[in-house]
Order: sequence, then structure tokens, then C-alpha cells
Amino acid sequence: MDRDSDIHALQHRLAEAGQSHLLWFWEELSVSQQQELHMEVKGLYLEELGQAFQKAMKDSSHLPGQEIMDAKMEPVSHEVLGSVTRNRAQLSAWEKEGLRQIAQNKVAVLLLAGGQGTRLGVSYPKGMYDVGLPSHKTLFQIQAERILKLQQLAEKQHGLKCVIAWYIMTSGRTMELTKSFFLKHKYFGLKEENVIFFQQGMLPAMDFDGKILLEEKGKVSMAPDGNGGLYRALGAHHIVEDMEMRGIGSIHVYCVDNILVKVADPRFIGFCLQKGADCGAKVVEKTNPTEPVGVVCRVAGVYQVVEYSEISLATAQKRSPDGRLLFNAGNIANHYFTMEFLKDIVNVYEPQLQHHIAQKKIPYVDIATGKLVKPDKPNGIKMEKFVFDIFQFAKKFVVYEVLREDEFSPLKNADSQNGKDNPTTARHSLMSLHHCWVLNAGGHFVDENGTRLPAIPRLKDASDLPIQCEISPLVSYGGEGLEEFVKDKEFHAPLIIDRSGVHELVKNGL
Ligand code: UD1
Repeated sequence: MDRDSDIHALQHRLAEAGQSHLLWFWEELSVSQQQELHMEVKGLYLEELGQAFQKAMKDSSHLPGQEIMDAKMEPVSHEVLGSVTRNRAQLSAWEKEGLRQIAQNKVAVLLLAGGQGTRLGVSYPKGMYDVGLPSHKTLFQIQAERILKLQQLAEKQHGLKCVIAWYIMTSGRTMELTKSFFLKHKYFGLKEENVIFFQQGMLPAMDFDGKILLEEKGKVSMAPDGNGGLYRALGAHHIVEDMEMRGIGSIHVYCVDNILVKVADPRFIGFCLQKGADCGAKVVEKTNPTEPVGVVCRVAGVYQVVEYSEISLATAQKRSPDGRLLFNAGNIANHYFTMEFLKDIVNVYEPQLQHHIAQKKIPYVDIATGKLVKPDKPNGIKMEKFVFDIFQFAKKFVVYEVLREDEFSPLKNADSQNGKDNPTTARHSLMSLHHCWVLNAGGHFVDENGTRLPAIPRLKDASDLPIQCEISPLVSYGGEGLEEFVKDKEFHAPLIIDRSGVHELVKNGL
């Protein structure tokens, strides 16, 4: 087919889909811009997109009927629940089983890192962010080192050399930077062949009538298709085959922004396996009705997450007779899937996942004036699939409750925006946890006069800093093995414990 007839075919397709405006500025574009736009528009699944838009709009227009949803929502039932506080006696058995699986190369981790970090306000992938720890490690490095340490722990326990494969989903916007960052840092000590990058899909932004928006005269406004784009991407890039080839049985999926994430947590894996679950979710207790976390619950008897943007305030505020929030299973975006379950999702159920709609302020080129408009109120929508929307297909779904102070401190916002989920809170959470680890292992902190500091810091005001203490994941995964470094010893903060030893930064003049 020659170029002209190719353009005519495209014009025809666009006209049928009601998207002819995308070529409005065609004559003004250079040949290379025309080629790029041509390729971009050709790659859009216009018919599917139109249907998804209609369906998503119809579903979201039902939202005012929230009472219907409210009436169908039920909290997580006790039979499916495991807890690090209420099931203490079982923790070591779960951990042992998890480590056994790791030692046999049966565990993989899958990182969702295709987000755009809009709220954090950085132009690079969030995993590259340095929250200002004494070591200045980035989120990617912390996660990589936790993987390395777990491999070591499993090897030590079972005498088998092992690998935890790390699959990293990026998007068109984060792929190149992420890959080059890993390359530059030599994969943080992991083997390159065990870190597998793949890219999720993108979808165009639309106005409220379903018209695709132009970001530039020759460029469609595209955004990643949500973290639920995972399942389509797993199929498109043959990742499931790679996992099968490696003999993987359990997959831990998690989000990039949680500085405390227990990557491939053996207890979580052991718990899910012991329960015979094909799918599981880690949660922390949600204590504030307006906290932006989804809640795991049942809707009409089926497990799902009701996202924070989709729950009504009245429902979020409901309380049980014991005074706690009724829907308190806060989703921390840590999920467990068996290989079989993931395969079924990718091969069978993925097309059934619905898009969620987020109303956004989307800059666009106005067709009438040709000018770029930066709206100050929402002017369009982005469609996204959510990673947890597959819970509904699980044959046996379980929920594992962990402590927030041990496992959840997400980095969402910039320091300047508000006091929550920002670099400062992430840094403080990690240092407070590591301070606790030192105390639990028999160490103490002293002030400049040698007086022991209270175990529970007496914060006079919110600006007081926690004791600065950072322990390399290469030394300890979850607080274990620290006695040899700290027992019955006194330290001045800031303190770093890494593989080269214990460093008191001020004392050592560092
Ligand atoms: C997410 C959860 C929410 C949970 C909260 C906990 C989803 C849909 N929502 O919300 O229930 O309570 O985390 O912190 O999971 N991402 C992609 N591709 C995309 C969009 C996002 O890979 O297209 C990744 C991001 O890089 C990030 C993760 O998904 O690692 C979560 O994305 P984000 O938009 O920050 O989710 P939240 O709205 O905070």
C-alpha cells in the first residue's frame, strides 16, 4: 500500500471512530511529525477504546447510586485472615516455608513501576528517588538489597544457591531511565539476567465526550494504562513464559513507592501457601476514614478492593461495635499470586477487567485556535485498569494483616505539599523502624554526654527528628542478626550499620 492510500485508510478509520480531529493539523506538520503521528494513531485500538469509554462512563455514572454499592459491601471474613499480631505462633513456620520456596528458586517478585509520579512532582521514575537517608540509597537500591539479603538467608537455611527473579514493569515514560539507572549501578549487585524489564501499554486521554486529546499538534496525549495494565503486558512480552521456564510458583507483586516494602516476604508467601490460596493481599489497619488507601472487602460476596477514590465518605466512616473502622483492611498494594492463577488471568480473564475512570486536568491543543490549553479544572479522563481487579477470579483468596510501622510508608507527595506520605515521612519511618531493631537487639543510644536516650523518643513537637539510624538491607532483612553488632553497646546517632561494620557518623567525622 502506498503512503497516500495508507493515510486515506487511516482517515477512514478515524472518521468511523469519530476521531477525525486528530489529523486536524496534518498540513502544518513536518514530514517526520506526520510519520510519528501516523504511527501513533495507527497503534490505537480505536474500536476497543470507544467501547471501553462507553462502558467506563456508564459504570461511573452509576456512582451516585453509591448506596447500592454500600449495601453490598462486607468486611473481610475471619476465615481468610492471617495476622502478624494475632498469629504470632505461626510466623516462624510461615517464614520457614517461604524461605524453602525461595531456596528452590520458586519465588519471583514483580515491581509495578510504570507510574508517572505526578504527585511527587519528579520527572524521573520514583524508584530513583533518594529520600535523604544517611546512605542516600534510592528506593530501587533498597529493594534490590532486600532481594540479595533474602537470597542469602534462604541459601544459609537450605544450603542451596538461589535466585529471586525480579520482574520490573515500566511504562513508555519510565523504561529507558529505569534501565539505564540499573545499568549504571550494576544492578545493585544482582545478576543482570535475573532483572527483567518489560513495558506496560499506554492509552490516550479523552475529553468527556470520548474525543481523544492532542498533547501537541502532532502528538496524542497518552498515559500508562494503569497498574492493571500489568496483565496485558505480561502476555504481550511473554513474561509468563519466562516465569514458567524458571519454574516459578509464587509471585509477590508490589508498588515502587513503599520504602518499608518486604520484597518477597517469606512469611507472607508461607502464609498464602499454607492456606492453599491462589491469590492474597497484604493489608494494614486503616484507622483514618479519609486515608487514601483502598480497602479490601467483599462486594456481593466477592473479594475486591474498593479504591479510595470510589468509596463514599459515609461508608469509609462506618465503624464496627469495637469502635474500629468497619472497612479497615487498608490495601498496601502487596499481592500474592500463584503461577497458575496468574496464567489464567493473562490468558483468560484479562479482557474482562473493566477500566476505571479518573477525571483529570489534561493539557491539550485546542482544535479551534491551535493553542495549548492548561485547564484549571478537570477537562477529561484517563482510563486505567487496577492491579487488584483480578481478586474476583481467585478460587481461594486470603488477606494478611501486618503492622504499618513495620511495613508501610509510601512516598506519594513532595515535601512541600502536605505532611503525609512524603520524603520526610518515608525517611523517618525507616529510621524509626531501624532504631527499634537496634533496641530489640540489645543496643542503646546515648546523647553527647553519654546519657542513654529514652527508648521511646519524647517528641516535643512535630519538627523533632527521630533518632537517625539506618541499617543496610544487606545486613538485616527484617531486624534479624543484629545482636553481633549492637548487643550491650552504646551508640551516638547518626548510626549506619552496613556490611563494612558499624559507623557512628559524627564520632567518625563522616
Ligand atoms: C495504590 C493502590 C491503593 C493503595 C495504595 C497504597 C492501586 C490501583 N491503588 O494507590 O489501593 O491503597 O497504592 O499506597 O493499586 N503504576 C504503574 N502503572 C500505572 C500506574 C501506576 O505501574 O499506569 C504503579 C506505580 O508506579 C506505583 C503503583 O502502581 O508503584 C501505585 O500507583 P499509584 O498511582 O501511586 O497508586 P495509589 O493511587 O497511591
